[in-house]
Amino acid sequence: MLNFDYYNPTQIVFGQGSIARLDSLVPADARVLVLYGGGSAERNGTLAQVDAALGQRTVQRFGGIEPNPSYETLMEAVALIRREKLDFLLAVGGGSVIDGTKFVAAAVDYPRDPWHILESFGSEITRALPFGSVLTLPATGSEMNNGSVISRKSIQAKLPFFSPHVFPRFSVLDPVTTFTLPPRQIANGVVDAFVHVIEQYLTYPVNAPVQDRYAEGLLQTLVEIGPLALATPQDYEVRANLMWAATQALNGLIGAGVPQDWATHMIGHELTVLHGLDHAQTLAVVLPAMLDLRREAKKAKLLQYAARVWNITEGSDDARIDAAIARTRAFFEALGVKTRLSGYGIGADSIPRIVSQLEAHGMTALGERQDMGLDLSRRVLEASL
Ligand code: NZQ
Ligand code: ZN
Repeated sequence: MLNFDYYNPTQIVFGQGSIARLDSLVPADARVLVLYGGGSAERNGTLAQVDAALGQRTVQRFGGIEPNPSYETLMEAVALIRREKLDFLLAVGGGSVIDGTKFVAAAVDYPRDPWHILESFGSEITRALPFGSVLTLPATGSEMNNGSVISRKSIQAKLPFFSPHVFPRFSVLDPVTTFTLPPRQIANGVVDAFVHVIEQYLTYPVNAPVQDRYAEGLLQTLVEIGPLALATPQDYEVRANLMWAATQALNGLIGAGVPQDWATHMIGHELTVLHGLDHAQTLAVVLPAMLDLRREAKKAKLLQYAARVWNITEGSDDARIDAAIARTRAFFEALGVKTRLSGYGIGADSIPRIVSQLEAHGMTALGERQDMGLDLSRRVLEASL
């Protein structure tokens, strides 16, 4: 029996030239802070389009939000907003900029030390500055969800937080802005979106045919257009479909009312903060071993995944599951994303530190049944070498 409360207030404005619509989306009297990353939004003309659309409003800029956004950098934006009394935020970039903006929006008036937002996984946020986003990298779904992942370099932590107060008011998705993405980031986006769907689908059956078929449709679409997005980097239709699939993969719909795993992501975050791997690279490494070692608990959905996504219907249960995992790994590798720790120069000697960080961050009962302890996480990492 499905019981759930689905809510998502984010307005999506989609299509070529849609950045101009910001003039109707941002309050006319807003004192705006535009937040962005390392320069791609400047170089590809997105910031110029944003400036033109904001017209005569009071606008300041905060750049330098790094991939895997850091608390240290973001607290500088918080200080700027408080000093200049800015009241509306606009994130222009990928998931790191949007996640960083969510943290800044919640931190400005947070009554405690803002790192507590991460320590409490966002549970005590009661308000946040209004913000919107202009997405330039299809991957995380952050443009249409209430989650964010923030790193703190000084303590080597990378933690998620969630709150209904940090949904973007709106997000502008113009596929043309993605034309300047390097292949690595396109491949990362396909893998990240694919694993988001897996985390909400490859668990155990709860008689949710709507969520299942929706998830399977997204997976099939990503398998189909992921390679095309690399092969034809200026194809608007391909990029538009990829952008929409990535948004749908983590806007709460396919996850409504069904069990969710997220163990691959929690282990992945430690790999990023300790070894600097891109977020999606960590997922491509961990997922195959995760599915292999947890095949008994996931058997029903693994067989459904094998049949409906990869058309694997012949052979024993284990043979079909092996084949589906192999196809998943091959899909990531074909995108140019390596699927073994050794591919990133990480050896068995790194595993104890990763496991101790999982423990330090309370990641000791992971998975859809909260039954995945540190020992299994260690074995998954060993099987990922
Ligand atoms: O910094 P700039 O110069 O903008 O360059 C960025 C960055 O170097 C570049 N880029 C972005 N748009 C571009 C572009 N380069 C050329 N043309 C464009 N149009 O791409 C690089 C990566 O950007 P980033 O925002 O870091 O990538 P992504 O969107 O994959 O975000 C990754 C972050 O999102 C978090 C991850 O943990 C990671 O910190 N996630 C957020 C989630 C959420 N909020 O729901 C869920 C995800 O599972 C994930 O954890
Ligand atoms: Zn992700």
